[in-house]
Amino acid sequence: MYRKILHKIKSNNLKYCIVGLGYVGLPLALRLIRAKCNTHGYDIDKNKTRSLIKGKSYISNIKSKELEYFKGTKEKLFNNIKKLEEMDVIFVCLPTPLNSDKSPDMSYLNSFFKKIKFFKKKYQTIILESTVYPGASQDIIKKHNLKKKLKKKELYFVYSPERENPGMKNFSYKTTPKVVSGYNKDSLIIGINIYKKFVNRVVETSSLSNAEATKLLENLFRSVNIGLINEFKIICEKLNLNIYEIIKSASTKNFGFMKFLPGPGLGGHCIPIDPYYLNWASRKKGYTAQFIKTSGDINSKMPMRIVNKISNVLKKKKSKKSNLKILLVGIAYKKNIDDDRETPGYEIIYQLQKRKYKVNYYDPYIPKIKSGRKFKDKIKLKSIKISQKNLRNHDAILIVTDHDKINYNYILKNSNLIFDSRGVYKDHYDNEKIFSV
Ligand SMILES: NC(=O)c1ccc[n+]([C@@H]2O[C@H](COP(=O)([O-])OP(=O)(O)OC[C@H]3O[C@@H](n4cnc5c(N)ncnc54)[C@H](O)[C@@H]3O)[C@@H](O)[C@H]2O)c1
Repeated sequence: MYRKILHKIKSNNLKYCIVGLGYVGLPLALRLIRAKCNTHGYDIDKNKTRSLIKGKSYISNIKSKELEYFKGTKEKLFNNIKKLEEMDVIFVCLPTPLNSDKSPDMSYLNSFFKKIKFFKKKYQTIILESTVYPGASQDIIKKHNLKKKLKKKELYFVYSPERENPGMKNFSYKTTPKVVSGYNKDSLIIGINIYKKFVNRVVETSSLSNAEATKLLENLFRSVNIGLINEFKIICEKLNLNIYEIIKSASTKNFGFMKFLPGPGLGGHCIPIDPYYLNWASRKKGYTAQFIKTSGDINSKMPMRIVNKISNVLKKKKSKKSNLKILLVGIAYKKNIDDDRETPGYEIIYQLQKRKYKVNYYDPYIPKIKSGRKFKDKIKLKSIKISQKNLRNHDAILIVTDHDKINYNYILKNSNLIFDSRGVYKDHYDNEKIFSV
């Protein structure tokens, strides 16, 4: 059967389905469609499937016209899990957040695997793309009794972590190597052949756990380096050094250095979360990670640091602070995307409001703050326009996200005071109304 599957992959004779049509799942669906694969989508969120049937995108980086394939095709998009039984290859792109004690929240994956283990269909391939802790795939296989089917080769299991980079204009999935692992050799070969349909280079690992840990190392590298550069910024401020000039000159080193920029803290569904997955797995074996904790501490204190700095400056400027108005520019966790998950902007708003500042925000990608996430429930705001009147009407502007489409010169010209957490005004720090925070 294994040979037959390989043949079907090559002759494009398989039904593919993405489970979880979010930031990872929807772009993946597009790649399959471009590779002319018979692509389907399953999501519990009916708004998402409805929107796709109407041909409308709900992710800012994906244009509606790219979704023509799904327009009007009710049979390609579904909310009924039973329809998955008709599929040959199932890509699982479900959320893997943290529990309140910072342990991995595997509930989305477990509730999904709990249902599909009863599938009667033979020879399906399940490809997990969600970020998980090392050993998670094996735990899932054990917990949901998939071993028997896998051993009998009636099921194939692949783990391949996603390397999506939302908002990066030059990002190309095709040229980004894809790490692939399999439960056994057959699963691995099947996985490799599937990905070869739409990526140039597939990198295999010898175990599922090594592929899981690869993803965590990639994100840990980012979080530690962001922590390092944020701490470096604190030190530069103390020593009265220009961090942006230092980063620029260090970046001329053509080996052994990679540029990271300071900012208001971490956000998104990966970098603030994934290091805890690794630490959790490590702690179970008796070792508590040091770097992870230190960089996490530094990064998580950045929003509060910014709020304190703003307060101090404003205190010096005006005696009564209760009526002061602050406009946050950008709320997404990084530039050019509409993703506000874990964004430090919400903590900043919350803390400023606690100190009785009146806060507004502007973000061209996020028209309103929806409920449901940390701090979000406490702040109910809609994005306001960037106009001369609105800018003048606020005592201070705080740059939280450096979206490319924002006119920073216009803001500079029309604002009373600016706090810059992203270095967008790094060439103007001699201007008295701009403060780097
Ligand atoms: N966002 C990124 O840039 C990124 C990058 C690399 C890896 N990842 C990882 O990929 C995984 C998915 O992340 P995401 O950002 O796409 O999440 P997301 O929240 O954008 O998408 C998840 C989707 O799953 C759906 N869903 C939830 N429960 C479901 C269920 N039981 N059945 C079917 N659908 C269900 C949700 O409605 C949503 O559409 C996570 O493990 C994340 O860590 C994310």
